[in-house]
Amino acid sequence: MGVPARRLGWRAAKRASSVDVHLLDAEPTSEERAAVDAFLGPPLSSWVGADRADNGHSAHGGHSARAERHQLLPTLHALHEHTGWISPGALNYIARRLTIPPADVYGVASFYALFSLEPRPGRVLHVCDDLACRCAGSQALIDTLTEEVGPPGADREGATWLPSPCLGQCDRAPAALLTQSGQAPMERELVTVGSEDLLGAIGGATPSPPASAIPWQAGQPGLRLLARVGVADPESIDDYRARGGYAALRRAFELGPEGVIREVVDSKLMGRGGAAFPTGRKWDAVARQPRRPHYLICNADESEPGTFKDRVLLEGDPFSVIEAMTIAAYATGCERGYIYLRGEYPLAQRRLEHAIQQARDRGFLGQNILSHGYSFETELRKGAGAYICGEETAIFGSIEGYRGEPRNKPPFPVDRGLFGKPTVVNNVETLVNVLPIVLEGGAAYARIGTAQPDPLSRVISGEGSTGPKLFCVCGAVAQPGVYEVPFGTTLRELFELAGGVPGGGTLRAVLLGGAAGSFIKPDDLDLPLTFEDTRAAGTTLGSGVVLAIDDQVDLGRLLMVIAAFFRNESCGQCVPCRVGTVRQEEALARLLSGRTRGTVQDELALIAEIGEAMRDASICGLGQTASSAIESAIERLAVFNGGPE
Ligand SMILES: Cc1cc2nc3c(=O)[nH]c(=O)nc-3n(C[C@H](O)[C@H](O)[C@H](O)COP(=O)(O)O)c2cc1C
Ligand code: SF4
Ligand code: FES
Repeated sequence: MGVPARRLGWRAAKRASSVDVHLLDAEPTSEERAAVDAFLGPPLSSWVGADRADNGHSAHGGHSARAERHQLLPTLHALHEHTGWISPGALNYIARRLTIPPADVYGVASFYALFSLEPRPGRVLHVCDDLACRCAGSQALIDTLTEEVGPPGADREGATWLPSPCLGQCDRAPAALLTQSGQAPMERELVTVGSEDLLGAIGGATPSPPASAIPWQAGQPGLRLLARVGVADPESIDDYRARGGYAALRRAFELGPEGVIREVVDSKLMGRGGAAFPTGRKWDAVARQPRRPHYLICNADESEPGTFKDRVLLEGDPFSVIEAMTIAAYATGCERGYIYLRGEYPLAQRRLEHAIQQARDRGFLGQNILSHGYSFETELRKGAGAYICGEETAIFGSIEGYRGEPRNKPPFPVDRGLFGKPTVVNNVETLVNVLPIVLEGGAAYARIGTAQPDPLSRVISGEGSTGPKLFCVCGAVAQPGVYEVPFGTTLRELFELAGGVPGGGTLRAVLLGGAAGSFIKPDDLDLPLTFEDTRAAGTTLGSGVVLAIDDQVDLGRLLMVIAAFFRNESCGQCVPCRVGTVRQEEALARLLSGRTRGTVQDELALIAEIGEAMRDASICGLGQTASSAIESAIERLAVFNGGPE
């Protein structure tokens, strides 16, 4: 129990398991019961947890209680933020309240890294030790914490610290997240931190919330996605409207659902979540489905190491996300939407909840929107620290109250998605692109970027890359942050925008596309940033990560971080990924320690073979891409052949 098995690795988790799970006879404390009841409401029947002093014959549970299974993740959150952990008694009580087998509740609770299944201090500092934070010196912070506080998990007067994968604050690295459970639970981001800030937070100081990240381009003319970020008040719907907000929804109502889809098809918008699927085709497929209801999910899970663009939009322009969701739902006939937000974004959560409420109060959301006879409701669902839950079918499981495990495709989400119904899943940035598409027209939007039918490769690959794109530039650059540029901008131009490598340092490599992407050499800086050019160069844009690595960084160590990330985050469903990510990490560790089995070439051949198996036989994109960064470092940077290391 404790740290989820996915994070520890199966054998380590078994070793760490110090107690058996005796759920059936464990009872909740009154505090735990109160925390659950405060969220779910009082139990209506003895079958679901009320005192059994009623007549004992009739039950009000049954189907209606089982239909509440989708409340499992929010209920676990509600409990955890009050008590700081999920005890067997509390787990058993939740199982009774939602009529879910206790083993199932355990399976779900243990899936998420932010939940603890054993007692731990109420104050937890999650310290990022992922790619960008490592480049910004997080190892020194971790060394200080280990020295001053103790190893991860050590209790120092009711507080502790734990290492964390990327917290989505790479533009402000090194970063941490402070969580405090209790009657007044609190979550706070700490950005650009030093060891004093961390020790203060462990010692009980409450850091003030960081200011929203202001893009370096804020206020510049010509921006479409970042136009309001850092300029408008993200908590005022009036300011949003004064700056053009909700004009696109009015235009969408003029166009009608089919007209909106036509514009999106004409725009050739490709999804920005990593898979680059044409949005218009997805919307059209859902709109045509006769089965009802239809659902819309805004994928705000953003857990790919190095990615933070969605956070900047969600915090800086939350109304635009709500407006774009309303347009998407209108076009595709969705009655209900969910924003699946990663659990480590407390400021985005507050801003979104506030924006949803204001939009509802002003008639932009809910029943009969703007008196057009169209109704749409949306709610926020908070993840709990599982990268895999960003995969579109894993989100379904997570929202429905199951483990966030990807499903086989087909059936595709447009046919059988959330609760088995036709579902649109779109990334935050994809959705925000819909606003200029509706306002300017799809054809005008398609003229931005590289859709013009000139170079032969673009004609062959089809659509080209249209519109503006957000890139998350971090690591060894003078001005890390989110940048909006048209597709076709070169990597060199992007680096120039971000101020280049600071202090005249030497650029050693660029990790493009995040942990699931690949490394490229500094010689390739003239690569145009488009789907087709990166594909032709054997790399990917992924979710838009551009991590610059200078000669100060230990590249071998960085590869180990990537390998450990995939081993931790594999959901374990399919063998190639579950076993392959472990074997890959082991082979890398042997190479880095110099204790190879056979020659270096033997180990490199093994890594290539494992990569091939994961690519070919894994169910989902996590396994399929788990080796790409590592293999690219071996091939292009010659890390183990007299290359940079
Ligand atoms: C392991 C994994 C994690 C993913 N995480 C995200 C994510 O955090 N956000 C996202 O938008 N897409 C993520 N995706 C891609 C989604 O599966 C899906 O393609 C996307 O949400 C569709 O939206 P789009 O068409 O607007 O890009 C992930 C995919 C995989 C395989
Ligand atoms: S590829 Fe990995 S993460 Fe994806 S379903 Fe298989 S085991 Fe789970
Ligand atoms: S916040 Fe630390 S690497 Fe992203």
